[in-house]
Order: sequence, then structure tokens, then C-alpha cells
Amino acid sequence: MPELGVNMDHVATLRQARRTYEPDPIRASLLAELGGAGAITIHLREDRRHIQDRDLHLLRETVHIKLNLEMSCSPEIVAIAVRVRPDQVTLVPERPQEVTTEGGLDVVANREAVIRAIGELKAAGIHISLFLDALPEQIALAAELGADAVELHTGQYSRSRDATQRDELARLIAGGRRVREFGMALHGGHGLNYRNVRPVAEMEDMHELNIGHSIVARSVYVGLERAVREMVDLITIPSARRSQ
Ligand code: PXP
Repeated sequence: MPELGVNMDHVATLRQARRTYEPDPIRASLLAELGGAGAITIHLREDRRHIQDRDLHLLRETVHIKLNLEMSCSPEIVAIAVRVRPDQVTLVPERPQEVTTEGGLDVVANREAVIRAIGELKAAGIHISLFLDALPEQIALAAELGADAVELHTGQYSRSRDATQRDELARLIAGGRRVREFGMALHGGHGLNYRNVRPVAEMEDMHELNIGHSIVARSVYVGLERAVREMVDLITIPSARRSQ
């Protein structure tokens, strides 16, 4: 059964909208932990548009579940990660103008930068996950470069419907099988919500799901601890038991 990584970027986005001190991702992370999260996930972007360096430092001090740092391979950010030592780094592509991460990291095209980042992060004892599209050549190279885990990009699955969504799920399942065959842990994330998460959560050996926007959006209505608890139940309690 997967554990839930709650992405706190959207809490920081609301704070940064007013350049003030609330809502605070540190306090919000405590509520996510109380709601049953297995990890706190943050993306320290090069433009610092939401999560700030202060957040990373304070979360390293206060989070006692897994701290998962999403980041690019930029040498500046790699140096920060090596100093702060999150439990896990998920390497993602980053484009300055994008609204959110747009696709998986192209490890084939960025091979040298990825090798350098993985080398420095692993030397600091940090667990490495790569955020990838479910493509055989990307997954094979991730294994060759020594990744511990692959987070499959679920964005296309999340955005599609009906037969197209079933095709996207089949691609994710085939990709997940490859990830496992190479001995890496299987993660997933992007665009997942309370309606589309179950088929992904039920993929064989799914280990970690990183979900942000839908949980933080729901928290406006029901509170963060309950929004997290509802998502944890959805991804961990088998359908048969939930319907009783
Ligand atoms: N995983 C990765 C690698 C991401 O970049 C993001 C978005 O920050 C997420 C998961 C969470 O996506 P969402 O906010 O759509 O749930």
C-alpha cells in the first residue's frame, strides 16, 4: 500500500501571494502528519516562487516523517540539498515560465547534469527518486545511473478521460513493471485527486504517491488534517472494506 507524500507548495503559494507569514507550510506539515501523511514534499524552485529556503531549513528540523525535496539539477540547488540533507530528493525538470512541472525529466538528454547531481546527493546519503514519463529508455537509464526510485508522471493520466485514461493507465502499469524489474521503488504523482487516484494507488508495489493541489484545495472546505486523512484512506483501504 502506498504512503502519501503531501506536497506543501500550494500552501506556500498562498502565503507568497501576499508576501506574508501565513499560511505557514511548517504548521501545515504538522497537520498533514497528524492526518496520516508518510512524507512531506516540497519543491525548492530556482525562482523561489513558493517554497523558501527558510521553509526547507525549518522543515528539516521539524518533520519527523520522510522529507522529500523536489528540485532541478541546478548546482546551486544541489549544494543546498547536500547541506540540508532531506531524506529523499526527487529530481524534476524546471522551466522558469511553467505554471507547474510539465513533464518528466529527460535523463537521456540531460545525462551529464543528472549524473553530477546524483553523485553529489548520494555522497550526502540522500535517497534519489527521478520524476519520469513512463518511457522504457528513460526508466532503463535511471536504473543505470543509480536511482533508488522512479516517480512516474501521472499528469496525462489525470488530465484524460474514458478510453484515453485507460490507455494512459496501461502505460503507467507497463512503466511501473519496468521500474520494479530494475529493482527501483515505484512512486507516482502529478494531477492526482480524490476521483482519479485509486487505479494508480492499486498499481502493483506502488510505494509512494505525491499529491498536492487537490489536497490543499479540499482543505479549504474540510481542513487540512481531514483532507489528508481522506486521501490516506482512499489510497490505503481496499475497496471491499471501504464499501462496508
Ligand atoms: N510530483 C511532482 C514531481 C511534482 O512536480 C508535483 C507538483 O509539484 C507533484 C507530484 C504534485 O502534483 P499536484 O500538485 O498536481 O498534486
